[in-house]
Amino acid sequence: MDIKPLVEWNEKLSVGIEEIDEQHKVLVKLLNDLYGAIIQKNDAVVIDNILAELVQYTVVHFAVEESLMRIFDYPQYDEHRKHHLALTTQVLDIQKKVKAREETVSMDLLNFLRSWLTNHIMIEDKHYGPYFLQRGLKGAWSTRGWAGKVWEFMHHK
Ligand SMILES: [Fe+2]
Ligand SMILES: [Fe+2]
Repeated sequence: MDIKPLVEWNEKLSVGIEEIDEQHKVLVKLLNDLYGAIIQKNDAVVIDNILAELVQYTVVHFAVEESLMRIFDYPQYDEHRKHHLALTTQVLDIQKKVKAREETVSMDLLNFLRSWLTNHIMIEDKHYGPYFLQRGLKGAWSTRGWAGKVWEFMHHK
């Protein structure tokens, strides 16, 4: 079945750093997988697995951003970290309720997750892009970064 994605990647979502964009694309893909699973009425277990992966990858991704912020002495570190903590709490809460079958993944919930991700990228994440580049981080990576490698290793890709 051909399903129109819930979130479509576009340049507006780019922070100007390839490695980070690549990670954001994984988050976008997981949201689209979740949407696809709902449309196709997949088993609850399939949905549980996608949500577990979304939580896991979110934690990995936020940790990568936060370590870059510490390396480059990002002035908005504390503020950004607070956003990450709030976003992590929200997605963990959703995962817990869905897993306990207290909540189902509705269109409202999917729309919430779409804004949850895209607003954070377009507002808070976009803000560090020029700063990191100015501090010497390369926008284009010649080899896969370590976070990508760890993720591939974990998922035997
Ligand atoms: Fe991000
Ligand atoms: Fe962030």
